[in-house]
Amino acid sequence: MLNITRKLFLAPMAGFTDKTFRSLCSRFGADVTITEMVSAKAITMGSQKTKELISFSEDEKIKGVQIFGSDPHVMAEAVKIIQDEFEYDFIDINMGCPVPKVVKSGEGSALMKNPSLAAKIVEEVARVSRKPVSVKIRKGFDEENINAPEFAYIMQESGASFITVHGRTRTQMYSGKADWEIIRKVKEKVKIPVVANGDIVDFESAKKAYEITKADAIMIGRAALGNPWVFLQIKEGFENGQVTTRVLPHQKIKVAIEFFRQLCTEKGEKMAVLEARKHLSFFVKGIENAAKIRDKINRIDNAEILISYLEQLKAELEQKLKKVDNIL
Ligand SMILES: Cc1cc2nc3c(=O)[nH]c(=O)nc-3n(C[C@H](O)[C@H](O)[C@H](O)COP(=O)(O)O)c2cc1C
Repeated sequence: MLNITRKLFLAPMAGFTDKTFRSLCSRFGADVTITEMVSAKAITMGSQKTKELISFSEDEKIKGVQIFGSDPHVMAEAVKIIQDEFEYDFIDINMGCPVPKVVKSGEGSALMKNPSLAAKIVEEVARVSRKPVSVKIRKGFDEENINAPEFAYIMQESGASFITVHGRTRTQMYSGKADWEIIRKVKEKVKIPVVANGDIVDFESAKKAYEITKADAIMIGRAALGNPWVFLQIKEGFENGQVTTRVLPHQKIKVAIEFFRQLCTEKGEKMAVLEARKHLSFFVKGIENAAKIRDKINRIDNAEILISYLEQLKAELEQKLKKVDNIL
């Protein structure tokens, strides 16, 4: 039995939550991490590139593999392959992705409009899977089709072990406010654990999300980008009633350098320089002259130069603090 009660989940985010970033978030306190979404069809066709998305780091604690697709048979075949080749704790089925290409193929959030097919997928996957199967859904497909509670109930009856609800419709994509009330309605409807997701950004919002949704666990997505210590701060808040840990600008850059070095090890320097850009732009958010720094980073195409630039930036930021200290 997988115990997810009061656990902090890092949301799966395609293009961001690779092994290196998941490892970093785990070191800062994320209890549950999930791969980026992996195409079930690509797995069954033997795609090596897709399989590369599945490897985990030693820092990760409870590990999920997220798959997407629309053919129950293909999904089950993919799980058979995954479980023979990888070590993990649960399979998560994506029924929330809003991307047009995915929706057009009847996958991701489109499944919320087709509960009988979604049920068949969960049944087939749960039948072959040696590990628990969870489902990640949205509030509904659009405002006219808000069905998360009924849909979640069907997922439970089909064999899902827990359910994650992102409180937005597919049409909302990532805009507007996440609806935590609908998550409470899901919680009232099902017996399996519910994970609340959407707009949880710090301890205050985490506390509120638990209060409103009555969920068993919470999941953090965008707020973790360039901000992996959000998990540490939320845990501190729940333990002590308040958050005193502040991460200073030079410390942010220190973590970013560490992250980039690890990325180089995982993906090779060339790829790491390109992939680091999007992460670094989050890490420098809120730092003085962030736009200029980003611009500079985006023009560096060599790992050594990038590291020395970041080291220099870190030293400058630290120096600034020392100046204040000296005056006081
Ligand atoms: C860049 C990006 C990529 C995402 N990729 C996935 C994905 O692969 N699978 C998935 O279930 N959700 C994905 N999501 C949705 C997140 O898991 C999460 O549900 C959403 O961001 C809401 O949570 P937040 O408000 O904490 O960010 C993605 C979101 C973003 C911003």
